[in-house]
Amino acid sequence: MLTLSNISVSYEGSRILRGVNLLVPEYSLVCLMGRNGVGKTTTLKTIVGLVKPDAGSVKLGETELIGLKPDRRARLGIGYAPQGRDIFPHLTVWENLKVGLVVHGAKANGQVEHVLDLFPVLKEMLQRKGGVLSGGQQQQLAIARALLTDPKVLILDEPTEGIQPNIIDLIGDTLLRIKKEARLSILLVEQYLDFCVNVGDSFYIMDRGAIVAEGPISHLNDEIVKEHLTV
Ligand SMILES: Nc1ncnc2c1ncn2[C@@H]1O[C@H](COP(=O)(O)OP(=O)(O)OP(=O)(O)O)[C@@H](O)[C@H]1O
Ligand SMILES: [Mg+2]
Repeated sequence: MLTLSNISVSYEGSRILRGVNLLVPEYSLVCLMGRNGVGKTTTLKTIVGLVKPDAGSVKLGETELIGLKPDRRARLGIGYAPQGRDIFPHLTVWENLKVGLVVHGAKANGQVEHVLDLFPVLKEMLQRKGGVLSGGQQQQLAIARALLTDPKVLILDEPTEGIQPNIIDLIGDTLLRIKKEARLSILLVEQYLDFCVNVGDSFYIMDRGAIVAEGPISHLNDEIVKEHLTV
């Protein structure tokens, strides 16, 4: 479904990604893990079209995405909830959600109700400003907004970062439901190991810009965790 082949990225001459290969199969949830600064967000930005790689290919099905603008990729089916969430603080929850709808226009209107059912807390806050929401509510808004672009692949960058445990569980349950109901694939960047083990089908671990381990989530053992994930 989504295939990254041999992606290399440099920032100002220094190499950040070194030949990354990664596959997100249809209808599965793939976790991309790794310590701070190893290149996880850069990988996602390359998929979304915010970073231009020096080399490599990103394919959605048979379609090459490299060279296409981010809005074109969104229309083709790449949904993105960035790290730090990027909610518009002065727009209402409803206005923030509408930003997602713009991608497909009126076509996606029927989905609003479904997405609000997935995140009931947002339904009660539609007229509130994004900036007054808690971190957990903003994260749910960011995921809901990405879902309203009607993605084939939903890309999430550290959705549990800075969020209280009970909301993390709720987001985890919702991801599993989305995956099952909406028939889409999810690529999740995450440093919270237990969360990955609970929701993921497979994992990739990145270290200094390269994939150093991968496999079904059941193969994620203490040895791998100790070597590549614990600080
Ligand atoms: N715009 C930029 N210009 C120059 N260097 C950058 C830029 N963005 C990121 N970097 C560097 O690239 C490396 C990878 O950054 P990236 O944000 O992809 O890491 P990450 O794995 O997402 O980290 P974190 O877990 O902290 O979010 C880091 O060393 C970072 O300092
Ligand atoms: Mg990051």
